[in-house]
Amino acid sequence: MRPAKPFAVTATAIALCLGAAASAQDMDEYIEMFDPLPALPPIPADGTMSAERIDLGRMLFFEPRISASGVISCATCHNPALGWTDRISRATGHDGQVGERNTPTVLNSGFLGSQFWDGREPDLEGQALGPIQAEIEMNMTLEQAIDRLNEFDVYREAFSAAFPDDSDPVNPPNVALAIAAFERTLNTPNSPFDRFLMGDEAAMTEQQQNGMRLFVDNGCVACHNGPNLSDSNFHHFELPGSTDAGRYLVTGDELDRSAFRTPTLRNVAVTYPYFNNGSVRELRDAVNLMGQQMLGHEFAEDELDDIVAFLESLTGEMPEVEVPALP
Ligand code: HEC
Ligand code: HEC
Repeated sequence: MRPAKPFAVTATAIALCLGAAASAQDMDEYIEMFDPLPALPPIPADGTMSAERIDLGRMLFFEPRISASGVISCATCHNPALGWTDRISRATGHDGQVGERNTPTVLNSGFLGSQFWDGREPDLEGQALGPIQAEIEMNMTLEQAIDRLNEFDVYREAFSAAFPDDSDPVNPPNVALAIAAFERTLNTPNSPFDRFLMGDEAAMTEQQQNGMRLFVDNGCVACHNGPNLSDSNFHHFELPGSTDAGRYLVTGDELDRSAFRTPTLRNVAVTYPYFNNGSVRELRDAVNLMGQQMLGHEFAEDELDDIVAFLESLTGEMPEVEVPALP
């Protein structure tokens, strides 16, 4: 990552001098604060992205029979038609149980430095087996899940093709590797914001550019930075109505109470509702709360409009994923 810049002082000063009609040179300083989204996130050493693995991962992602009820798959909550999330406040899983937390999108999740609101898993491989076993999500032991998959010739063949060196490839670590390989393909490059960063000046409206300046000048970029607009770090956030201890549940450290990992802002306009318990429906209200809580700042109405317009420019090209034909 780039070293922090004294953006709050210099950029504000520049903006004040030049007013709304800032020069192209001024805009360059803002552009430098950001990184366009690459087509693929970093791939770990054991994370071979073979076509066979990705295909198998796609089948498993849409496979409801690795849940106790036989009706809940990853795609139930991470629904491709709903921004790869569910658009409800808190996830509903096995037996209609409602969890404590909002479902984050899996789009661009390979760019995150840790997984889950509390960052309890370091990577997608570590994350993938959790929901299958979680009582309130898919509620299945890994042994049962492997037994079910083994019932199908199609799966035994697909695992052999994806893991040709394994004599007994239908096993939990390989389920995790395949799902993670698939998830690393779910990226949304080429948003208006990315095109603007790469030199297409017409890609973002004047209002969106104003919002981008406000985002930098007011310090949003201190936490929402890097290609995924998340520092993958944990920050204290008092969410009205939430009793979630956040990162504290992982570390047991009082300082981590109510701290949550910075979420991505990519596609944020289509991944409502917001925050760890999904209690905020409107993006404008989410921005307002961030200003108050994280920055101690009240935005004016037109500033909120501009920042929301900027956030709308972060909606990228959705991955084209064919729903698999399962056995
Ligand atoms: C019942 C709904 C539900 C199901 C089913 C489900 N998830 Fe999730 N997913 C969630 C919720 C809720 C969270 C946040 C949980 C937390 O932070 O503690 C989450 C978090 C994640 C994350 C972390 C994203 C981030 O920004 O940190 C990934 C990746 C993910 N799920 C992938 C999967 C995969 C793969 C499956 C299937 C094996 C799956 N999910 C099944 C609801 C669900
Ligand atoms: C100190 C770090 C920090 C700063 C500064 C910050 N954010 Fe956040 N942002 C976070 C964290 C952490 C969350 C997750 C909070 C939660 O749900 O518990 C978050 C969540 C959000 C969300 C909701 C995303 C979602 O999917 O639920 C939006 C929108 C957002 N921030 C926008 C902004 C804007 C705009 C600014 C500047 C006005 C800003 N943030 C400043 C750390 C920060």
